[in-house]
Amino acid sequence: MLLKELIKEGTETISVAYPEREAREMVFIYLEHLLGTSRHTHILEPAYEVAEADADMARTAFARMAAFEPVQYIIGKANFYGRDFNVSPSVLIPRPETELLCREVTMDGRSKRRPMRILDLCTGSGCIAWTLAMELQGAEVTAVDLSEDALKVASTQSFEDGPSVNPQFIKADVLAGPIESLGIFDVIVSNPPYVKESEKALMRKNVLDYEPDMALFVDDDDPLVFYRAVAFWAKALLKEDGFGIVEINEALGEETAEAFAEVGFTKTEVIKDFSERARFVKFSR
Ligand SMILES: C[S@@+](CC[C@H](N)C(=O)[O-])C[C@H]1O[C@@H](n2cnc3c(N)ncnc32)[C@H](O)[C@@H]1O
Repeated sequence: MLLKELIKEGTETISVAYPEREAREMVFIYLEHLLGTSRHTHILEPAYEVAEADADMARTAFARMAAFEPVQYIIGKANFYGRDFNVSPSVLIPRPETELLCREVTMDGRSKRRPMRILDLCTGSGCIAWTLAMELQGAEVTAVDLSEDALKVASTQSFEDGPSVNPQFIKADVLAGPIESLGIFDVIVSNPPYVKESEKALMRKNVLDYEPDMALFVDDDDPLVFYRAVAFWAKALLKEDGFGIVEINEALGEETAEAFAEVGFTKTEVIKDFSERARFVKFSR
């Protein structure tokens, strides 16, 4: 069948679960993986034919997406900061907003012109750790997670433009306090679990049914538990002139900043994204 017909069919199938634009985007991501086509192939080559076996495989995948399974888990890849990362249901699918956190650190790191030591707490797929290791020449990145399955995914990422030094991945409970033997760091980053259990009602099925609870949720009665823990790690392991940056629950910007102020970080800043949502807290002494 023609590629353009398959795109139409896939978009219709997935549109039962998602807005049409999003459904079409998922079709393009899947077909790029399956056929190596781009979002323009059907326009530039209107007669592009798809073999029936491939079309059948695509139909099966479209049905899974219509049942809310994320396309990234189906193909086992997610794009982050311009690179493909391996993902599985044991890791959070890297989000575009987390790219802004990486940009903030790389801009600062490049102005320093010296290799940095960076600590990534709650690393998941390792998307932040690997990105910083690749974007900042010579950076030495250490990354921590409690999930063995996540660490398996994170430590086996591979890239054509891999870093000069691969990140080091460590299994540890961030809530159990800092590991002093790791030494001190120029930068500490974290995108920890921060969604309140009570916010589940606002979340979509593709996240709730497929992404790991452990990566997402915190108790309603202590939603800042990970930030207080990160603050303790930073208090012990951040260089005097270093800084930290964490992704946050947009409803808790000031409270999160306060968690860092309480342990002595006198400079805290709530950073907003393009749509004016509180996204990050940056802190230093
Ligand atoms: C929101 S995900 C972030 C993943 C990744 N940094 C990203 O930005 O895509 C949070 C991560 O925290 C990890 N995690 C949850 N509880 C933890 C704990 N007590 N200690 C260490 N890591 C933990 C989860 O396994 C998950 O990978």
